[in-house]
Amino acid sequence: MQIERLAIFCSGNGSNLQAIIDACKEKSILAEIVLVLVDRPCFALERAKQAGIATKLLDRKAATFHDEVILALRETRAEGIVLAGYLSILDSRLISAYPMKIINVHPSLLPLFGGKGFYGLRVHKAVLDAGCKISGATVHFVEEGVDKGPIIAQESISVYAEDRPEDIAERVHPIEHKILLQSLSLFCEGRLSVQGRMVHISEE
Ligand code: GRF
Repeated sequence: MQIERLAIFCSGNGSNLQAIIDACKEKSILAEIVLVLVDRPCFALERAKQAGIATKLLDRKAATFHDEVILALRETRAEGIVLAGYLSILDSRLISAYPMKIINVHPSLLPLFGGKGFYGLRVHKAVLDAGCKISGATVHFVEEGVDKGPIIAQESISVYAEDRPEDIAERVHPIEHKILLQSLSLFCEGRLSVQGRMVHISEE
C-alpha cells in the first residue's frame, strides 16, 4: 500500500523534518506532509510554518493530549507517521490504529542504547561510557514500548577514544537523515513488509 499523506511528529530542532520537507519538494519521497505535530514550542514548528505546512502545537501535559493527537491525524487524513525527534511516548490506541505505519529514527544501533531516558546526548554519553568502538543510527517501525519495533535500516559510525558526546552526535546526524530518507522513500512506495522481526524490501 502506497503512503501519500505523512504526519511528522517533532519536539526539537527538526533537522530530520527539514530533510523530509526537502525530499518531498524534490520528489525523492513521493508523499505530501499533511501535518507537523509538536508537543512543545520548538524550532521544528518554525521550519514547518516556513514551508507552508499545516501545524499543530499540543500541550503534552493536558488530559486530552492523546485524544487531540488522534483527532489531528483523522482531520488531516494522515496515512503514515514519522517520529522525527519526538519525545512524548505514544498512546497505545495510536500505535494500534497505525500498525507498521509509524516510523521512528533513533541515534544508536538499536536495541543498544534505546528505551526510556535514552535521548539526545545521553545516548552518546552511554555509548562512550560503555567503551563502544562503533555506534550509529536506526530507523524502525514503532510497536508498543520505547524504541521498539522491526528495524528498517541501520548504519554505523566509528567511535574514537577522544570523542565527546557532541562529536558522536555530529557524526550520527547526517546518517540519520540519509537512512530516514531512504526508508521513507521505500515506505511511501509501499515496498516495505514485515515478517516476524524482519523487514523485507520488495523490488520496484
Ligand atoms: C535525532 O537524533 C533523532 O534520532 C532523535 O532525536 C533527534 C532529533 O534531531 N530521535 P532533529 O530534531 O531532527 O534535529
